[in-house]
Amino acid sequence: MTAPLYDITNVSKRFRIGSRLSAQGVRTLQAVDGVSLSIMPGETLGLVGESGCGKSTLGRCLSRLYDINEGALVFDGSDISHLSTRQMRPVRRKIQMVFQDPYASLNPRRRVQDLIAEPLRIHLKLSDAQVKDRVAGLLEQVGLLPDHAARYPHEFSGGQRQRIGIARAIALDPKMVILDEPVSALDVSVQAQIVNLLADLQDRLKLTYLFIAHDLSVVRQVSTRIAVMYLGSIVELGDADQIFSQPAHPYTQALISAVPKPIYAGGVARNRIILTGDVPSPINPPSGCRFHTRCPFVQEKCRKERPALLPLLDGRVVACHFPLNTSSAV
Ligand SMILES: Nc1ncnc2c1ncn2[C@@H]1O[C@H](COP(=O)(O)OP(=O)(O)OP(=O)(O)O)[C@@H](O)[C@H]1O
Ligand code: SF4
Ligand SMILES: [Mg+2]
Repeated sequence: MTAPLYDITNVSKRFRIGSRLSAQGVRTLQAVDGVSLSIMPGETLGLVGESGCGKSTLGRCLSRLYDINEGALVFDGSDISHLSTRQMRPVRRKIQMVFQDPYASLNPRRRVQDLIAEPLRIHLKLSDAQVKDRVAGLLEQVGLLPDHAARYPHEFSGGQRQRIGIARAIALDPKMVILDEPVSALDVSVQAQIVNLLADLQDRLKLTYLFIAHDLSVVRQVSTRIAVMYLGSIVELGDADQIFSQPAHPYTQALISAVPKPIYAGGVARNRIILTGDVPSPINPPSGCRFHTRCPFVQEKCRKERPALLPLLDGRVVACHFPLNTSSAV
């Protein structure tokens, strides 16, 4: 059996917010709450959930831009959970990130040549001529022209800027790229071009993706498997087709019911389920099942006992006392 490229076990991340001088004092916000998942080599794992559910924080924990409070991160066979910045250096080459807003993540005062060359200069000892060649090759791989190297980020469209962000991310020949809402800020037609580029690069460079998005229709197009996150935890994870055709968690069902119908591609069209109530605060999460304050199927047990993430017969895992496809429960 193939070993996972990235094994994530029970990872939690908390932020301390407020100050001792403020009315509410210092409080703890649990942004990521005991997440476990395995990412297989070559797959695209889609990570979805409403705004604020902890997707970006989890992505940043996995690329070790954030230290984790609990849990274990085993990447490519090595435990990287608590490596120092220096020890992380060789690993950083292998796990890269692409962000939603390429403009914010590219220094506006630097030319594209230097922006793409930066990771090459930091990590590889290349001559100036080698760096120049490599930058030209990278621009070509992401569909830009050699002339673009001399320009500044403001001289590009949003889609082109995302191409520059992608060129930077693949410059060091990574194994895994964490894509945090890579197309959310782009027009629909440009989104499709970037999605195609990412698919093409994945094939050519044998990349593994974690594709974070709140837009399920985009995730549906690109993902092999999908993980659904709610208030810092994974509530359902499995094959993308299974999750779309037969969501087992009531939250997944509600998210999918909001996706325009053509996306079902053979699945069953449903009435839209409107979730009532606000997303609870990760500072003071509800007791029992974190979703019980909004779940249309809530029962007494849900308010008291937190459901564990357990497997169904079809291989998916779901955290619900009363999953919707009970016939496939183990
Ligand atoms: N640096 C930080 N300090 C304090 N709280 C933070 C920090 N970063 C994120 N949070 C909080 O952690 C929670 C998760 O935020 P995160 O940005 O990971 O959500 P998200 O799922 O990526 O949302 P979106 O879809 O809007 O990008 C939110 O409540 C957010 O306010
Ligand atoms: S455990 Fe209960 S409240 Fe939570 S999702 Fe399942 S049915 Fe709804
Ligand atoms: Mg985010």
